[in-house]
Amino acid sequence: KKVVVLISGNGLNLQAIIDQCHHKDADVVAVISNKSEAFGLERARTAEIDAQVVLSKGKTRELFDAELMAAIDPHQPDLVVLAGFMRILTPEFVRHYQGRMLNIHPSLLPKYPGLNTHQRAIDAGDTEHGTSVHFVTEELDGGPVVIQARVPVFADDDAGLLHQRVQNQEVRIYPLAVQWFCRERLMMEDGNAVLDGKVL
Ligand code: GRF
Repeated sequence: KKVVVLISGNGLNLQAIIDQCHHKDADVVAVISNKSEAFGLERARTAEIDAQVVLSKGKTRELFDAELMAAIDPHQPDLVVLAGFMRILTPEFVRHYQGRMLNIHPSLLPKYPGLNTHQRAIDAGDTEHGTSVHFVTEELDGGPVVIQARVPVFADDDAGLLHQRVQNQEVRIYPLAVQWFCRERLMMEDGNAVLDGKVL
């Protein structure tokens, strides 16, 4: 299956997908960043994957999303993977890729949609935190969850430590979800995530 990965930054999740899925179940046909300095672009080039920049700065959501779609669609991807992609997408864009776009969000959804999830978990006194892979729907970080990983929160944690602990799990579960989708074991049906015919 053909996969396009969208990034904004370091690209640790991208690297995990390259290492665990590329040239196996998935062919990562392009990596697109909305920031020219994203280190993930280097990771793509090193893996000889087409690395593109579509700048978001100073553009309306509508214009940026139209440009992004125009960059993605020539690759005819089966799946679009948001991997640390830090832009909110328009409903039109989301509908266009409905059922074939995944995101990873660093919280145990439905807890803490949006930003600063690690600090929010600490501030709330949570003893458990984690990360969720979900299908993207029009509701921000609100689509059906595919897989979650849990991590403990320790009394002396700060957001940085917690972020690292969460990322160690992200690089394990995101490639797995991509593999499931590419093997046609995972799909979105009637707003539900379905794995091997069972609603998750
Ligand atoms: C991840 O923690 C992801 O959950 C969040 O942003 C981070 C991206 O990291 N949305 P990377 O670019 O994959 O290293």
